[in-house]
Amino acid sequence: MDKIRLGIIGLGNIGKYHAEYLLNRKINRCELVAVCDKFLTSPEKYQSLKIFTDGERLIKSGDVDAVIIATPHFQHTTLGIAAFENGVHALVEKPISSHKADAEKLIAAHKKFSKIIFAGMFQLRTEPRYLKIQKMIEGGDLGEIVRVNWINTDWYRTEAYYSSSDWRATWKGEGGGVLLNQCLHNLDTLQWLCGMPKRVRGFCQLGRFHKIEVEDNVTTYLEWANGATGIFISSSGEAPGTNRFEIAGTLGRLVLENNKLMFTRNAADMIEFSQTAKQGFVKPDAKEEEILFENAVQPHAIMVQNFVNAILNGEPLIAPGEEGINSVELANVMGYSSLLGQTVELPMDGAAWEKKLNQLIAESKIEKKVVKVATDDFVSSFRK
Ligand SMILES: NC(=O)c1ccc[n+]([C@@H]2O[C@H](COP(=O)([O-])OP(=O)(O)OC[C@H]3O[C@@H](n4cnc5c(N)ncnc54)[C@H](O)[C@@H]3O)[C@@H](O)[C@H]2O)c1
Repeated sequence: MDKIRLGIIGLGNIGKYHAEYLLNRKINRCELVAVCDKFLTSPEKYQSLKIFTDGERLIKSGDVDAVIIATPHFQHTTLGIAAFENGVHALVEKPISSHKADAEKLIAAHKKFSKIIFAGMFQLRTEPRYLKIQKMIEGGDLGEIVRVNWINTDWYRTEAYYSSSDWRATWKGEGGGVLLNQCLHNLDTLQWLCGMPKRVRGFCQLGRFHKIEVEDNVTTYLEWANGATGIFISSSGEAPGTNRFEIAGTLGRLVLENNKLMFTRNAADMIEFSQTAKQGFVKPDAKEEEILFENAVQPHAIMVQNFVNAILNGEPLIAPGEEGINSVELANVMGYSSLLGQTVELPMDGAAWEKKLNQLIAESKIEKKVVKVATDDFVSSFRK
């Protein structure tokens, strides 16, 4: 095989976005040959392609080698499993599943088909600003990490956004709110750079700013095995909102804010300095430097090219699908801990959260009236 025949399942906001750069031949050795949506709008755009209304049919059609799954989250698991079982490679949109137990099912299904490529769409991993942070952590510039704070409240969404489709911001349709949807990318980045915490205490407000039943305002305490502590704060109702990512290590502090990355480097390890200093109010000398970077031009397309290269040449995946369970677990545990009113140790019990989620679904009283909105500004929602 020297070219991938690709299908997209789910042609909503993001599915259409993927289709556009694929139809414009931005991905080498890959041709978009089929699309699928239960309710396809503007089919004339896809006249040259095979059109399906059922994802499993597309997968079983023999027309595609690989799919991008861009449906609402719950279908990521079922369609992902169907792809693996039918020998079709899958690039699954974030989150890889709605909850941890489903993610485990998806990963277990993939394990049986080791030649099939399973990737997750975590495009922030292609962004030079995060790659620079990763290099600095791995290179030891920060020393040992002691604190990770991410105030991530610039995911502002209007009431019209939440009314725009029936699945959004419902326990049944999505399985969570701002954690599982908007800041899932940040949660993936957090664990990719700093590893998974060992315990989490979440405080989530459900429908604080919107007429929704899931969380739209979150404050979380995190603790890692080495004693590092942190907070993760998010909101989809706060304007102007903040996006400040701060990592403090024994050798210095990184701050990413307003698309600027600053590093304050300590002249000495702060703990060694404290233990050897003869005076009480001195501090290690520190020097601030700006770490320059350019933003990725089309991060989603980089992910798709990587997926294609992984299938054709075994290129290592930027985001192996299996790693997608971590961000799902973080989103789940923050909500679960809040509902329990307790700190939860990780790895969390995925079955216990699934049971709680099913209870929330059964008790849901929300009745959604869908009002379609213009989505011209969709692309502006990406860069966080
Ligand atoms: N990586 C990113 O930057 C990014 C951005 C936006 C959305 N997403 C993710 O993509 C997914 C879709 O989000 P969206 O905003 O495009 O949603 P959307 O509601 O705009 O689109 C979903 C589409 O899937 C279709 N659909 C539903 N069930 C289906 C099925 N079983 N088979 C085929 N089609 C089906 C719907 O008709 C709809 O057109 C979500 O999981 C979301 O988290 C990722």
